[in-house]
Amino acid sequence: MPFPEQFLQELSDRNDIVDVVSSYVRLTKKSGTNLFGLCPFHSEKTPSFSVSSDKQIYHCFGCGKGGSVINFIMEIENLSFPEAVEFLARRAGMQVPEETRNDPQARRREQLLALNKDAARFFYGCFRAPGGAPAQEYAMRRELSPATVKKFGLGFAPDTWDSLVNAMKQKGYSEGLMLQAGLVRKGKNSGVYDTFRNRLMFPVFDVRGNVIGFSGRILGDGEPKYMNSPETPVFSKSRNLFAMNLAKKSKLGYVILCEGNVDVVSMHQAGFDNAVASLGTSLTPEQARLISRYVNEVVIAYDNDGAGQKATQRAISILEKLDLKVRVLTMEGAKDPDEFIKSKGADAFRNLLAKSEDHVDYSLRNLQSKFDLSSPESKLNYLKEAEAFIAGFSGRAERELYAMRVAETVGVSADAVRQDVERLRKSREGRDKRQAEKQEMNLAGRSPVKTIRYENTRRAMAEEGVIRLLYRDPQLFDNVPPLSPEEFSVPALGNMYRVLSAQSGGAPSMATLSGSLSADEIALLTILLQKPETTANGRKALSDYIEIMQTERQAQEQSEDLLSLAKNLRKKKGYTDQDGN
Ligand code: UTP
Ligand code: MN
Repeated sequence: MPFPEQFLQELSDRNDIVDVVSSYVRLTKKSGTNLFGLCPFHSEKTPSFSVSSDKQIYHCFGCGKGGSVINFIMEIENLSFPEAVEFLARRAGMQVPEETRNDPQARRREQLLALNKDAARFFYGCFRAPGGAPAQEYAMRRELSPATVKKFGLGFAPDTWDSLVNAMKQKGYSEGLMLQAGLVRKGKNSGVYDTFRNRLMFPVFDVRGNVIGFSGRILGDGEPKYMNSPETPVFSKSRNLFAMNLAKKSKLGYVILCEGNVDVVSMHQAGFDNAVASLGTSLTPEQARLISRYVNEVVIAYDNDGAGQKATQRAISILEKLDLKVRVLTMEGAKDPDEFIKSKGADAFRNLLAKSEDHVDYSLRNLQSKFDLSSPESKLNYLKEAEAFIAGFSGRAERELYAMRVAETVGVSADAVRQDVERLRKSREGRDKRQAEKQEMNLAGRSPVKTIRYENTRRAMAEEGVIRLLYRDPQLFDNVPPLSPEEFSVPALGNMYRVLSAQSGGAPSMATLSGSLSADEIALLTILLQKPETTANGRKALSDYIEIMQTERQAQEQSEDLLSLAKNLRKKKGYTDQDGN
């Protein structure tokens, strides 16, 4: 099952981590040999995500994620290890090894996709059958044409407990698979029952055209309005967008982002074939990245209410980070694009699109509307917030331009605003730097990976040192009696020792280790390799580390012995408290 070491080595040689990461993250050189960018795995304003070209590893000082190019692809593309290997092999034009075919996770995904496809066909058939009358009537009431129903593959989940279960059983799918897909639920007695009942079904496709999940809307009023498939090995809400499979083929060259499935469907029906929606959650960085693979411009057309405005601001900050051009469409006289199109028509909506504003103009106007600007005091308050906002723009020219505009609105000199903005920016940069430094300081001592505990810091630091030396210069260990993994107080470090010392000659690379260590272990290894270590007097360092490991271990064992001795004594005297201590 494991891939040959040599193959993984060649794979990583032919997929330079800087090239691979660069197609997801904008990297810039900051210090030394490392490149920095905004972390794609957590949300941040200043870059703490680093990539080392020398070591061919990445590491985020903010969220602690890290590893080889293979780990990066696993994390960002949500793939298993063999799938990530296959992905990178394809990228480098290498022969994909046989091993991937036998990957149980990949096989499970295929089964889930097959089941979902058959379920979608079943719902689609139910919609058209005589029993589908309630759904047909509902679609008619929402003015959805038969062509639209077909294009989106809309369906109907009948108002029964077992229609889908029975149909899928007949096709040979197991209850276990249906449960995992979220299509059925466990009943009180041993059986299962249909999750979606009496609902209009929206299949959710990924960009390759697979049915990955479902969204079911109640026919009319009631709670919950929508039911969605749970997260499954093939369905991740945060990584997909409703109708992106259609919008990616649009000739319009941009994407319209809206809130609801029904908005998307009715926009496509009106000819806006570039509408997409996030799947009932606020926009995520992964979704933004998906959009940026196809277009470089997004128009946000969220609902016309307070929640919609808040969601718009959040979406702007996410989209803007990916260098997407962002505009905002503002509607009046309708609560959402669906209602607007139905009451005013497609041409009126086209006008709104043409009038949609650049996101900075939108944000400043939004901000301004919160102040009446009639008193000097409210003017100053507005100015303060506007300056804070403008100070966040990375381009100097952009800051100048908007500083001038705001100065004009308030009626003060442009110079004053400009100076305020630059001063704010400087102090913010200083604060960010201090915070980053503090974060790095905090890493010393505690385990840098949340799921791994360091009970005894001194011992763990020595164990880290041993691993660092073993990774850098395995020859140092030639004349040292071998340690056993059990001698490590941190099991993760013990495991690293076991795997590293089993590597055949030559310096190991992170890529060849990716298959033998867990994601957390890879993250920890990545971090501990970043700490300085001189290999010049490596022999001395190694013996120091080993000595610390051993003395600390003895001290710990002795104190444990004393503790249990005391406990036994107390027991004998009958002093045991409730916990047996
Ligand atoms: P909306 O309530 O705006 O739904 O929620 P809608 O699709 O526009 O439907 P209509 O026009 O009122 O009939 C927006 C999106 O939020 C998610 C769905 O993805 C929906 O499309 N949502 C909403 C849920 O996941 N669950 C809910 O209970 C409600
Ligand atoms: Mn809506």
